[in-house]
Amino acid sequence: MADLKKLEQDLLGKIERAASEAALEEVRVFALGKKGVISIEMKSLGKMSPDERKEKGPILNGLKARIGEAITARKAVLERAALEARLATEKQDVTLPVRPEPKGKIHPITQVAEEIAAIFADMGFETREGPDIEDDFHNFTALNFPPDHPAREMHDTFFFNEKENGERMVLRTHTSPVQIRTMMSEKPPLRVIIPGRTYRCDSDQTHTPMFHQVEGLVIDKQTHMGHLRGTLEAFIKAFFEVDSVETRLRPHFFPFTEPSAEMDVRYSRVGNELRIGQGDQWMEILGCGMVHPNVLKSCGLDPDEYQGFAFGMGIDRLAMLKYGIPDLRDMFAADARWLEHYGFDANDQPNLATGLSR
Ligand code: DAH
Repeated sequence: MADLKKLEQDLLGKIERAASEAALEEVRVFALGKKGVISIEMKSLGKMSPDERKEKGPILNGLKARIGEAITARKAVLERAALEARLATEKQDVTLPVRPEPKGKIHPITQVAEEIAAIFADMGFETREGPDIEDDFHNFTALNFPPDHPAREMHDTFFFNEKENGERMVLRTHTSPVQIRTMMSEKPPLRVIIPGRTYRCDSDQTHTPMFHQVEGLVIDKQTHMGHLRGTLEAFIKAFFEVDSVETRLRPHFFPFTEPSAEMDVRYSRVGNELRIGQGDQWMEILGCGMVHPNVLKSCGLDPDEYQGFAFGMGIDRLAMLKYGIPDLRDMFAADARWLEHYGFDANDQPNLATGLSR
């Protein structure tokens, strides 16, 4: 039998020096595995005389137990060290402050479109949308623009190339085609607003080739111009956040309404500031009228049963007026500094209860 004291010292040294759980496992196999040094010693017990076995048995069992315990203890130390190393790399400093201000702003056009939707929703209007690429029928014909009539030239239309059948699609020149789509697909009574992008070949301080409109449409059996005016005055008061407004309806021409009008609103200029609602001057703010009987017929509605009013206005212009934005083109220049200055906090959702614009 080998020198067991020396063997024990050797093994305990190896266990102490094992720097990882894998290295420790190697030591365990070397000592206690099937062919391990201690296991081989244990097997030799079988060949001993009973007296010898009585003496050596407890010694070997003691050795086996002490080595086993040393391995278990070392294992616990290594496991704890591994866990601590892992925790150190995954450490998060929960005392770091969160970013004080969210990055990014809501564009004034989005803000104003949401304000408009909130005001009209309060009056029972739902929102509808339609495609930016339209056909001639929805953009013109069904809206009572006669074929080859100069009214079609009123809008500097972007046309697509002719299709094989000769048809030319257009970038919609106004949101009015969605009136047609709504009347053709839904049953009256209707109360909808239709915000969206519109396109005309035009560019200067107050015109861009792409701009935004919001359309309004009410169809019912007893609708009249008084409803139109009341609705629009309520809207203007709410939108400009003023207690009273004075408006006037000035006769105008649109193919899709009869009678047609433009609505002007009183305003005054105090220093650099525009005050909308009262004042000594008039500003044109939107187009409107009673839906033309031909338009109702195009949509399969009987003009003797149904009538309604419609209106259309520029969202971008409303945004410029309300928030004092001087140049329309800046709205689409994608300049982060401009947006930082004119944009809105994403957490401030426009609503009538807590305020439209904060
Ligand atoms: N579609 C018109 C435009 O683009 C605006 C408009 C005027 C819409 C009168 C209407 C309306 O619905 O009744 O200039």
